[in-house]
Amino acid sequence: MCGIVGYIGHEPAAPVLLDGLRRLEYRGYDSAGVAVPGAEAIEIVRAVGKLRNLETALAARPLSGTVGIGHTRWATHGRPSEVNAHPHVSGPIAVVHNGIIENHGALRKELIERGVTISSDTDTELVAHLVHEAVRQGRNLEAAVRAALGRLHGAYALAVLSHDEPRRIVVAKNASPLVLGLGTDRGDGPDAVYCASDIPALLPYTRQMLFLEDGEMAVLSDEGATITTVAGEPVTRAPQRIDWSPIMAEKAGFKHFMLKEIFEQPRAMEDTLRGRLDRTRGEVVGAEIGLEGSDVSRVARVVLLACGTSHHAAIAGRYWLEELTGLPAVVELASEFRGRRPVIGDGDLVVAVSQSGETLDTLVAAKEAKARGARVLSIANVIGSALPRMSDAVFYTRAGPEIGVASTKAFTTQLAALVMLAIWLGRQRGHLTEARAAALVEGLARLPNQMQEVLHGTRQLIANLARRQVEARDVLFLGRGLSFPIALEGALKLKEVSYVHAEGYAAGEMKHGPIALIDPHVPVLVLLPKDENYERSLSNLEEAKAREAIVIAIATEGDDAARDASETLIEVPAVDPELTPFLTVLPLQLYAYYVADFKGTDVDQPRNLAKTVTVE
Ligand code: G6P
Repeated sequence: MCGIVGYIGHEPAAPVLLDGLRRLEYRGYDSAGVAVPGAEAIEIVRAVGKLRNLETALAARPLSGTVGIGHTRWATHGRPSEVNAHPHVSGPIAVVHNGIIENHGALRKELIERGVTISSDTDTELVAHLVHEAVRQGRNLEAAVRAALGRLHGAYALAVLSHDEPRRIVVAKNASPLVLGLGTDRGDGPDAVYCASDIPALLPYTRQMLFLEDGEMAVLSDEGATITTVAGEPVTRAPQRIDWSPIMAEKAGFKHFMLKEIFEQPRAMEDTLRGRLDRTRGEVVGAEIGLEGSDVSRVARVVLLACGTSHHAAIAGRYWLEELTGLPAVVELASEFRGRRPVIGDGDLVVAVSQSGETLDTLVAAKEAKARGARVLSIANVIGSALPRMSDAVFYTRAGPEIGVASTKAFTTQLAALVMLAIWLGRQRGHLTEARAAALVEGLARLPNQMQEVLHGTRQLIANLARRQVEARDVLFLGRGLSFPIALEGALKLKEVSYVHAEGYAAGEMKHGPIALIDPHVPVLVLLPKDENYERSLSNLEEAKAREAIVIAIATEGDDAARDASETLIEVPAVDPELTPFLTVLPLQLYAYYVADFKGTDVDQPRNLAKTVTVE
């Protein structure tokens, strides 16, 4: 997991590269480096640790030049060290890479046998040597990269520089994301050409972006970007305009991206719902979901695939799909689905849920399902990412860029997409009545305001609660029905950002194990919205209280029983029982955030975690 960036223009390259890397730091941050073609040779500056170390190194050894490539790393091959940091150099060639070269062992052996000295433990350095060998055989940079690509198995987004062709960068992509950006057109070409692993890196510079597909490469030069397949066939692709404003990718005055993104949720929800609810007719607009026109009567089952937080959204999606469409629905962890011989095929609608659209396990699982005849609908946030590109239909969540590694606004917008899908499908199948659909549509339309109310109304209470519980070693989250995935998500959030051990449990399962953890030091957060599970969840809360746990209830406004039974009551407005997760998850996100902040952890970039997991 890494971020790469490249620049050809008329401004000094190093500051543009550093700025791009800063916006990609969420992809990895154990070391970083940049390379430019210098007067005599390729010049590189690399540093272990966060980007500020690279910045210091560059201040001590400035790089001049208006062309360059950069990299921020999350180690996969070889521990974080300067020698393993990218760019990797071989003779006149410098390479940055995101991904994993699977046949690195064989390539390393082969290169050593040919007398090549390999200085790092990385798979990437091998690519630099392969390109260098091809250049030595008389190929130009483009042909040399093409020859090297022919030897690689695995995932890569690559950017390659040559000192011999100093105003060119050759890029290539397979299974790792890569976007190209074109600066203002000056008649004879754009004033700058960029490449990066993700859109936010380029937003301050250009909105004109091109997405490379797997198996494609491109030559970036002062004339623009020329795309071909790795086999050499020309590819024509018009740039797309990306309307995300750079400010959307900044912290906007919040201490951390995570907090900013938690508070962005009402707006993100509005964006996700916009144009997709027809309140006059009480319907979800089918054209928006991507399935309209397809024969949904053939769908006999829905299979939801996802990882991490998206998997929790998928669990809620399963409840909605069963309840509102009458179809059987199953949820699969994408990594587990891949590991089996899943029974899936024609008649199955696969709903693959992924914020990034690049999570390798989700991508591979969806491809496998598609190969077996299933239809794939992806629910993704990142436009043009790999998952939507391979899917039969796409439903974008429109949460905007999510920078905090711990997912928040992507989650609630995924929930919105899933419930809209279920409502639409339920109506198509005649399972859901017109009146019920209309009530849900109304309920959805009111959510952004109610989310705003919860965030502002509970923030201080939760900050105080978190301050009191900052020393807790174990925390339990309990919920039933639609609150079960929210309990899982609450526990995951806390683990991710505060490093506190937390368990999310189906409340009914508490007595089959987690109850043994309870003592007077264990906070137990019980999700207690007014729904069909209310009474039983209240009993579970009482059981925890009887064992002297510190009980916190997240319940509906005015719930006196919950108030009496809990040490702290966090109230959310009354909503349709199907829509409670949108409100009850918010206090849990805030709780995780504040515990982490009081602990002083690196909230936006928690240790060992990465935003997008493009490795297995
Ligand atoms: C990583 C991130 C999580 C995310 C998961 C799935 O683990 O840290 O926040 O939920 O990947 O990512 P996706 O982009 O597929 O939703």
